[in-house]
Amino acid sequence: MAETLLRVENLTKTFGGLAAVKDLSFEVKKGLITALIGPNGSGKTTTFNMISGHLKPSSGAIYFEKIRIDKLPPFKIARLGIARTFQNLEIFGHLSVIENVLLAIQNRRPVKFWEIVTRAPSFFKKEKEAQNIAFSYLKPLGLENWALSPAQSLPFGLQRYLEIARALALEPKMLLLDEAASGLDASEKELLLKIISNLKKQGVTILLVEHDMNMVMEIADEVIVLDQGQKIAQGTPREIQRHPDVIAVYLGEG
Ligand SMILES: Nc1ncnc2c1ncn2[C@@H]1O[C@H](COP(=O)(O)OP(=O)(O)OP(=O)(O)O)[C@@H](O)[C@H]1O
Ligand SMILES: [Mg+2]
Repeated sequence: MAETLLRVENLTKTFGGLAAVKDLSFEVKKGLITALIGPNGSGKTTTFNMISGHLKPSSGAIYFEKIRIDKLPPFKIARLGIARTFQNLEIFGHLSVIENVLLAIQNRRPVKFWEIVTRAPSFFKKEKEAQNIAFSYLKPLGLENWALSPAQSLPFGLQRYLEIARALALEPKMLLLDEAASGLDASEKELLLKIISNLKKQGVTILLVEHDMNMVMEIADEVIVLDQGQKIAQGTPREIQRHPDVIAVYLGEG
């Protein structure tokens, strides 16, 4: 039985009178791919936002490697090893592709102030190293030839890849992907699937939100189903596919 990496306990988030997430509990096992699915508005992104620290829960708790994280700011949660992408891309459009990734690298290997002002040899060495590391994240995603282009000039699919490269540059233990396949064409989706399975092989734990059920069924080890902010089912893709409550929710959606 795989070890628990993330534990969500009785999580609730209300906006005004509306409970976007209601008394939600689940665990994410280390090294596995877990999918969080559910109809539009069922609370998937809100759950991600609480895990990454972008939203504070109204009640409940979140533990990552047994450390309570739900009161920590996003940058501290990122340093503990949780990286994410956003459903609505959040890249720095006016910065170049490589600069977007360099920002993430600098986050975990800071250059000291005195190294910059004295233009110390160590500054140039670190800068060169950081560039090499950045390229190592751009290359597998086919982004190396775009390195110097403004991020906003990339075709949409590549902008999604850039967000993934930037998240990976944080060297996370766990990666949260919020609809990373949305807007991708068939071949782009295929590369995304390859990347996700390679990450799994490298030991990165993945929690993903995805509407493409074929993709979920193909790659997920475990599926959690939300409806109106509550968990209605959890199991393997095969179990979920046959679950009457899940079928009812998706049929209801058309
Ligand atoms: N900042 C906010 N303020 C008010 N209501 C919000 C806020 N964020 C989300 N909601 C509401 O909370 C509910 C859950 O939204 P959420 O974005 O988590 O759903 P989702 O499952 O990610 O949906 P989708 O599949 O469309 O991305 C929705 O009713 C949404 O309108
Ligand atoms: Mg969402």
